[in-house]
Amino acid sequence: MRILITGGTGFLGTALVRRLCADGHAVVSLGSRNADLTQPEPLAAFGGERFDVIYHLAAWTQAGDFCLKHPGEQWIHNQQINTNVLAWWQRHQPQAKLVAMGTSCSYAPELPLVEEEYLNGTPIESLYTYAMTKRMLLVGLRALAAQFGLRYLYLVPSTLYGPGYHTDGRQMHFIFDLIRKLLVAKTGGPPAVLWGDGHQKRELIYIDDFVDAAVRLTASVDNDIVNVGSGEEHAIREFAAAICTIVRYDSAQVKYDTAKYVGARSKVLNVSKLARLLPNRHTTSLHAGLRATIDWFREAMPVMGLAGSHERVARRVSEAI
Ligand SMILES: NC(=O)c1ccc[n+]([C@@H]2O[C@H](COP(=O)([O-])OP(=O)(O)OC[C@H]3O[C@@H](n4cnc5c(N)ncnc54)[C@H](OP(=O)(O)O)[C@@H]3O)[C@@H](O)[C@H]2O)c1
Repeated sequence: MRILITGGTGFLGTALVRRLCADGHAVVSLGSRNADLTQPEPLAAFGGERFDVIYHLAAWTQAGDFCLKHPGEQWIHNQQINTNVLAWWQRHQPQAKLVAMGTSCSYAPELPLVEEEYLNGTPIESLYTYAMTKRMLLVGLRALAAQFGLRYLYLVPSTLYGPGYHTDGRQMHFIFDLIRKLLVAKTGGPPAVLWGDGHQKRELIYIDDFVDAAVRLTASVDNDIVNVGSGEEHAIREFAAAICTIVRYDSAQVKYDTAKYVGARSKVLNVSKLARLLPNRHTTSLHAGLRATIDWFREAMPVMGLAGSHERVARRVSEAI
């Protein structure tokens, strides 16, 4: 198949491109540097080609408090990106199926995280704009499918983890931040202080498990929204204990700062629909997934902008594991 990927240079995009190339597809991968999708022109260059699938992954966001600090820019960038991609799809690639990414942040915290509720209620305030641009993306897909008979799939991932995350110093999703703090503490850096009481629960999905599910759902499901998570939630304390075991650090040394904001107490996607659609989906155990992620982290630390004497710390981390 001929496949175009927006956001192909990102964490998920890199893993998806690798999988699709391994499966023998002809892949065109776009990132912000070779195709700034806030502008319509870059896509016009592909008007003469006919794609079978468009994976639309591009989004302007980061973890932590990034969404809280950049709501206006996020609205402009993400609305422009999504509008340009959907308009181009409708006008120039109507034969293609468009597969887009939602976010669990779009769910209202008081409602069950089940697909029928995705557009209902109010997302949490700190992520409101980002969450609403993702909701509008689904609204756009549905509108174009209804009027022009286009085919789409909208996937809602839980937090992705695995090797190949960013090394450019941007704000990290909680699991990478947890690994960073514990590795630094293990090697004589500052003690690990985790936010909240550690009893708040989160869900992860291993990146290759998500990619595998995305590829298989793309082949079999049209015009639908599907949550894609592991379906298991763990307390932050459990994640920390699992990491401590792998890096051989005493988990009793970990401190918790209950004054810090931690968001929802519990956040796990309802994956009943996914289980029906893919009854034999691949799932990597948390231990195996964390080990692979930590191995990658160890290799990547020297090029990460860690605070303080990070090069020395990174070297000691490499030696310690
Ligand atoms: N990671 C998660 O846990 C998670 C969870 C739920 C949903 N998602 C969704 O899954 C998708 C991929 O996530 P990710 O973690 O791979 O994100 P990411 O690593 O931040 O990658 C974002 C991608 O979007 C591209 N991009 C940003 N601004 C752009 C612009 N103006 N024009 C063109 N491309 C632009 C980036 O290009 P450059 O790198 O070249 O700048 C990059 O390829 C996103 O839509 C995200 O909302 C991710």
